[in-house]
Amino acid sequence: MNDWQQRFDTRIMRSIGMPLAKLERGEGVWVWDDSGKPYLDFLAGIAVNALGHAHPVFVEAVSRQAATLAHVSNYFTTEPTLELAERITRLSGAGDEGRVWFGNSGAEANEAAFKLARLNNSGGARTRVLALVDAFHGRTMGSLALTGKAHMRDPFLPLPGGVEHIPATLDALEAEIDDAVAALIVEPMQGEAGVVELPAGFLEAARELTHRHGALLIVDEIQTGAGRTGAWFGFQHAGIAPDAITFAKGVGGGFPIGGLVTYGHASSLYTKGQHGSTFGGNPLATAVANAVLGEIESAGLVENAAARGEQLRERILDLDSPLIAGVRGRGLLIGIGLTGHVAGPLVAAAMDAGLIVNAANDATIRVAPPLTIGDAEIDEFVERFSIALDSVAATS
Ligand SMILES: Cc1ncc(COP(=O)(O)O)c(C=O)c1O
Repeated sequence: MNDWQQRFDTRIMRSIGMPLAKLERGEGVWVWDDSGKPYLDFLAGIAVNALGHAHPVFVEAVSRQAATLAHVSNYFTTEPTLELAERITRLSGAGDEGRVWFGNSGAEANEAAFKLARLNNSGGARTRVLALVDAFHGRTMGSLALTGKAHMRDPFLPLPGGVEHIPATLDALEAEIDDAVAALIVEPMQGEAGVVELPAGFLEAARELTHRHGALLIVDEIQTGAGRTGAWFGFQHAGIAPDAITFAKGVGGGFPIGGLVTYGHASSLYTKGQHGSTFGGNPLATAVANAVLGEIESAGLVENAAARGEQLRERILDLDSPLIAGVRGRGLLIGIGLTGHVAGPLVAAAMDAGLIVNAANDATIRVAPPLTIGDAEIDEFVERFSIALDSVAATS
């Protein structure tokens, strides 16, 4: 172990594995480690750094708001908070009845969504909350209860009750949604499960059935939001209106923020004093999110994510590597399916070649670059990823 690895190993909680590198600075789609080695960052902090690193708009917003008013508590409001709530209800199509609750992370956003589901109880008659097998909704007790991965849940049982995980099939929706369901929560694409898309017509059927039975349809847009999939939010590809969405990650572009947006009657479920967060919606976080979303909008980065995603998918398939089984995903959330369990070695080989990608699971490489990428970055990616593929293919 080198010096920083030793320090990490000694002082950081063992819940986090040994990092791949110690990074020192970033600019655009590039980051540099402590030896000065550059890496093309095609993970963007797991779909977070929407504008890349040290973007002037991000830097200006952090600096300006930090020098103006950083934090005030929920006893006060500020212009950036109000502006962000208006912006997010507009972009998510929540419209005139839309409301926003602000927190600081994805897990917290889903906690707020879980509590919203409990409020939709019809006088105690609705005891069931449905989530999907393999879903990832976060690591706090409530969001972990919604998460459908046994290895994450089991050490922490018992979790908040009433949650059932159903397969992502139209048949399961039809069989499981009844009048005892308070809410169904789904990711439009399961990023942590390996960039797994929902079956065709799933969200449409989920909307129809939850509507018929008075259950809330909650869409977890934490990984898929802020333009990542080539729409502002992933559910918009299906042309439906949910009852609530949760957001985090890319909305702050690297500044911690998360939250819950409600639509229609779901906006009247929470009443005064039922939820809160000291930091949630503070002017620093909301000013940065306004700047990030404003830049995504004015620079056409949602459209760029759609177009560059197509381009990237084609270039990956053109590599014609024996290790690549196929490509999944939409926009700039891409899962590269592998023919063997070689995602770990491939990530390591990519690091050697100066490229950051992620092993979403043993047989999937996840690619989620900043939404700002253009031809030059795609060429760099292809060059570096082929070197990594060749080196792993030569040894496997
Ligand atoms: C779909 C989804 N929901 C929730 C979360 C949890 O977000 P956070 O890590 O900010 O708590 C994540 C994080 O990867 C996610 O991808």
